[in-house]
Amino acid sequence: SLDKPPTVSPVGPDYRSESQKPTATVSTPVEFDTVTVLPQTPQLIALLTMIRDKNTDRGDFIFYSNRIIRLLVEEGLNHLPTVENTVTTPVGRVYDGLSFQGKICGVSIMRAGEAMEQGLRDCCRSVRIGKILIQRDEETAQPKLFYDKLPEDIAERWVLLLDPMFATGGSAIMAVEVLKSRGVPEDRILFINLIASPEGIKNFATKFPKLRVVTAFVDQGLDEKNYICPGLGDFGDRYYTR
Ligand code: URA
Repeated sequence: SLDKPPTVSPVGPDYRSESQKPTATVSTPVEFDTVTVLPQTPQLIALLTMIRDKNTDRGDFIFYSNRIIRLLVEEGLNHLPTVENTVTTPVGRVYDGLSFQGKICGVSIMRAGEAMEQGLRDCCRSVRIGKILIQRDEETAQPKLFYDKLPEDIAERWVLLLDPMFATGGSAIMAVEVLKSRGVPEDRILFINLIASPEGIKNFATKFPKLRVVTAFVDQGLDEKNYICPGLGDFGDRYYTR
């Protein structure tokens, strides 16, 4: 009839029927503007749900973690400097675009951080990757640097520091100290992780106010064994051995 507006089927990423409105646990708000949390899309929440489920087997854990890692790396790259770059297309028109400027490298905190190396390589062909091994000293219960192998010219590079679980921040803080001792300025380091804790973020942002963090989700907190809650358990065990 005349008085009814035409109905358009609601479609697209913003459409949710009432029964589909998200009820998922939400990422804890963060007060530091150096911290970027990925957009909380239904895709991301579904991927996080897969890897958090204790019944997800190792094959699926690897597959879905890798998808989140790819999103994190793509977002991390948005924080690197660009320069204007104008190109001509095959139809003879000009496109005023951008190119990345500045050399980068990855540094993984072993063992779990190594799981993020391929995602970085998938985005940045032949990227150099350094490694840092930090483990808890059994006598002092403090993190201790056991090994590092970093590109010679790391001081001239942007560094994507890779560790999937950002719990207390103890290892990441030690890794950043190592990078700084090799001449990498704080504001050229991006710490990339899948799940962060509010405690870790606070420790880190207080100590390194210029260092950027990119994470997929900020959880509720840590338990008495410093596992992230709700978390996903031990990332390295689930990715490599279980
Ligand atoms: N490392 C993990 O693998 N999981 C946690 O919850 C905390 C640190």
